Amino acid sequence: MTNDKNPLHVAIIMDGNGRWAKQRNLPRIFGHRAGMESVNKIVSYASKLGIKYLSLFAFSTENWLRPKDEVNGLMEILNEFIDKKFNEIIDKNIKLVVSGRLEQIPEEPRSKLEKLIDASSNNSGMVLNLALNYGGRSEIVDAVNKILKSGLKEIKEEEDFKDFLYNPEIPDVDLLIRTSGEMRISNFMLWRLAYAELYFTEVLWPDFDEKEFDKALDNYKSRVRRFGMTDEQIMRGEF
Ligand code: FPP
Repeated sequence: MTNDKNPLHVAIIMDGNGRWAKQRNLPRIFGHRAGMESVNKIVSYASKLGIKYLSLFAFSTENWLRPKDEVNGLMEILNEFIDKKFNEIIDKNIKLVVSGRLEQIPEEPRSKLEKLIDASSNNSGMVLNLALNYGGRSEIVDAVNKILKSGLKEIKEEEDFKDFLYNPEIPDVDLLIRTSGEMRISNFMLWRLAYAELYFTEVLWPDFDEKEFDKALDNYKSRVRRFGMTDEQIMRGEF
């Protein structure tokens, strides 16, 4: 029994910006800039399609290891993205949230992000979750530290652990997309990926557009999701 509904939560590892630039003999930062245009397209399109949660891996805890110019360039692109998209995000009823250790993000993009998070906090449309200075293991370590601080002595249910993750209202990932042909999870949303359908495409992120997003959604709809059960149980709706 396949799945005819769109995923509730789509997460994307936006990979291949550097290779896109290299193919054109351009500096890597041009690839990230082109990647920002894909972000614009996919955010608008996903919101139009009624996707409820969209998580984008924009900067990992490991990305600080990249050359300083590239890191600074990425922070500038983030600044520009917020400046340009602030009103559109509000108008499209999108709620912006951030996952990651935001305190290490430079002051300018951080304060802009905080303003947009605040201004969009009552929006009821798509939740856009930007993973920034994000690592899946750091998220779990941060959750454990919050639990220790809270004084809890035991976690009885998995659901109770989830309450300590970043933005606990965000559900499990249904569909993970990774562009550029790499087939790895790369420390993204480890807890919430437990039952995600994985979709890998050779397309580089700057070339990923509405048509490519449709392909990923169609592919997702062709999958049978059993969550550890048998086909018969799924057919009988025992979940
Ligand atoms: C991976 O490509 C991409 C990143 C590390 C950064 C993602 C950033 C953007 C898409 C820019 C805009 C984002 C926002 C939210 C405004 P890579 O550099 O690892 O590519 P490569 O593997 O081909 O070198």
